[in-house]
Amino acid sequence: MTYFRENIEKAVGYTPGFQPKEADVTKLNTNENPYPPSPKVLEAIKSIKPEKLRKYPDPLADEFRKAAADFLNLSPDYIMCCNGGDDLLKIALQSFCDPKRPLAYPTPTYSLYPVLAQIQSCETIEIPFDDEFNLPPKLAGTDAALTIICNPNAPTASFINPDEIASLADESNTVVLVDEAYVDFAEDNCIRLIKDFDNLIILRSMSKGYSLAGLRFGYAVAQPSLIKGLLKVKDSYNVDAVAVTAAAQALKDQKYFSQNIKKIKQQRKYLTEKLRLLNFKVPDSCANFVLAACKKQNAKQIYQKLAKQNIYVRYFDLPRLDDKLRITVGTKQQNEKLIAALNKII
Ligand SMILES: Cc1ncc(COP(=O)(O)O)c(C=O)c1O
Repeated sequence: MTYFRENIEKAVGYTPGFQPKEADVTKLNTNENPYPPSPKVLEAIKSIKPEKLRKYPDPLADEFRKAAADFLNLSPDYIMCCNGGDDLLKIALQSFCDPKRPLAYPTPTYSLYPVLAQIQSCETIEIPFDDEFNLPPKLAGTDAALTIICNPNAPTASFINPDEIASLADESNTVVLVDEAYVDFAEDNCIRLIKDFDNLIILRSMSKGYSLAGLRFGYAVAQPSLIKGLLKVKDSYNVDAVAVTAAAQALKDQKYFSQNIKKIKQQRKYLTEKLRLLNFKVPDSCANFVLAACKKQNAKQIYQKLAKQNIYVRYFDLPRLDDKLRITVGTKQQNEKLIAALNKII
């Protein structure tokens, strides 16, 4: 006897990366930014007036919408605020997918997509990437109602040229959602396509580049006709009053943001080079993590040995990933600690 819908009963749900309780750990497993958010964010949170908490928040979060519109040189009606990028993914599936309207995406990719599809009772069309992680041409010809391209892709850290995504949007009769959660660490993005395609949605997150994973804030960028439809599906008050102000301050402090991104890119280079010297196969990364393939050693065993020393990286027991470790780029000190530990293990 179950109270749940059949597909929920069958579902295993999403497995988030391990969040250790101890403070004294080297946490390189969930792609958080290792540096704190802009001091302006904390000042904004401290100066919140009780009145702001007493009332319901602005349903459209216009303070952030305006900041994002200025930043992207668009009008605010191109923006919808969300309770993290994951909230937008859920809204998109609810908006476009059902048992007769499948979801398509290339694999391997963000493991939340199939989980959301299962909750929404929609089929998934999974098309494998080739070994260089190029956009699979077959994606344009599916009968999916929604196609998601994670760019930069997780967990491969690879990047697809926006011109190729433009061709996909052009050839598709369906909605194409580009998940740009990690785009702050890449050299290009898809924003310039937004005025050309009425079937394109871009997901942005404040969790990674802006160090606000704990705040839960993300946003959608799309033509106003699509935003209007998505707004019907979101919770009325999906972003809270504190988060709106804090996220807007983070976005406005581009000087602090750029310094942070520069440090992470320097550390990404260090980590990649050191891992290659240790005989890992590490493709160049366009994100704040690297995917390191173990040529001889067993990846799962390395992951377990690191965890015993309170150094956490991510291991996926999945086809094409089970010989690899996904390692978040940490601070200089964290990365050095990881490399020293790997030196002893290998
Ligand atoms: C590929 C990808 N998309 C979206 C998200 C959602 O990020 P958030 O909900 O923290 O904004 C994540 C989080 O890890 C991610 O890895």
